[in-house]
Amino acid sequence: MRFTKAILACAALGSAVAQRPSSTPICDYYTTALFSENSGANQLALLTALVNTVVIGNYTQPNVGVLVPGILAKGTFNGTEVNLLPFFDGTANTTNRGGSAGVSVNFLDGGGATPLMQNKPAKDESSNQYFLLTHLYEFFGALLGCSLQGASMSPFLTYAGTPSMFEVHKFMGLTPPQFGYFVTQVGLAASSFGVAAADVQTVGSALKDLFGMRCTPEQEVLKGQGEQLQAICVAKACPLAQGAVCARYEGGGAGAAGSGTPTAAAPSATASTAGAAGVGWGGMGVVAGAVWGFAVLLM
Ligand SMILES: *[C@@H]1O[C@H](CO)[C@@H](O)[C@H](O)[C@H]1NC(C)=O
Ligand SMILES: *[C@@H]1O[C@H](CO)[C@@H](O)[C@H](O)[C@H]1NC(C)=O
Ligand SMILES: *[C@@H]1O[C@H](CO)[C@@H](O)[C@H](O)[C@H]1NC(C)=O
Repeated sequence: MRFTKAILACAALGSAVAQRPSSTPICDYYTTALFSENSGANQLALLTALVNTVVIGNYTQPNVGVLVPGILAKGTFNGTEVNLLPFFDGTANTTNRGGSAGVSVNFLDGGGATPLMQNKPAKDESSNQYFLLTHLYEFFGALLGCSLQGASMSPFLTYAGTPSMFEVHKFMGLTPPQFGYFVTQVGLAASSFGVAAADVQTVGSALKDLFGMRCTPEQEVLKGQGEQLQAICVAKACPLAQGAVCARYEGGGAGAAGSGTPTAAAPSATASTAGAAGVGWGGMGVVAGAVWGFAVLLM
């Protein structure tokens, strides 16, 4: 198919890609690099390939020689073993569809890896898998600044899912190694398509700043969705955000919700540690008031 040909034609992309002009969003730049034409369909194809690779590991033949295990594979992060599969295959009661308690949802019910390897989200359009994958294309497309997402006639729709990433992930109780493993796979997947190291680092830092800190104040990550709680890393071991607002997170931002037994908001004393942090991931400072983030950060 067309996508495969484009990847083949650009297999040698790698370091041959010139540096991205700061005025061009990451999405548009690499869509042009890989597909020549910067269209909505090609932006969607880029995000499909990227996200599918994040999920199942590198499957496009060939890539630029980067091995991507994918988030469904067991791995290690910073010396800790990580296995995210139970969050996806229905083993863990960790989705937010059950009101006050996390419930099990099988997100691999749309054919699993097979349709992903065919550059599709699922084998159908009604599975949990289809819902999750298309939301991931749309959310990451916005983060990466895809200019033709939601444009008239563009097949690439804007993200219309839950605006609060905390809300979506709150019962998962993610720890730094789990979150770090996810971000690593995103970076590896991008690298496998020839995305320059500087751009991979920009994306990784932005993901960590926006979602990888505990008790992060409300932020409008995607334009127009309003300020929302966005922390995904909520376990106690997650670095505390600058200006932390733990009391506004269920379970006091201590990962209690992640155990499947959310408690009432913690005493406001929790929030008094706010501002003490600033120690971010890999020594990165917090992007203070990171607004509707990536589109800005990545441009
Ligand atoms: C993934 O990438 C590695 C490194 O380039 C390669 O050896 C392997 O064959 C690839 N796997 C698939 C399924 O394409
Ligand atoms: C890696 O592990 C060390 C030792 O446990 C810890 O101090 C450090 O913060 C961890 N780094 C990350 C990025 O999680
Ligand atoms: C998930 O919830 C169901 C229904 O309450 C329960 O039977 C099951 O043991 C739970 N599974 C896990 C892994 O906690």
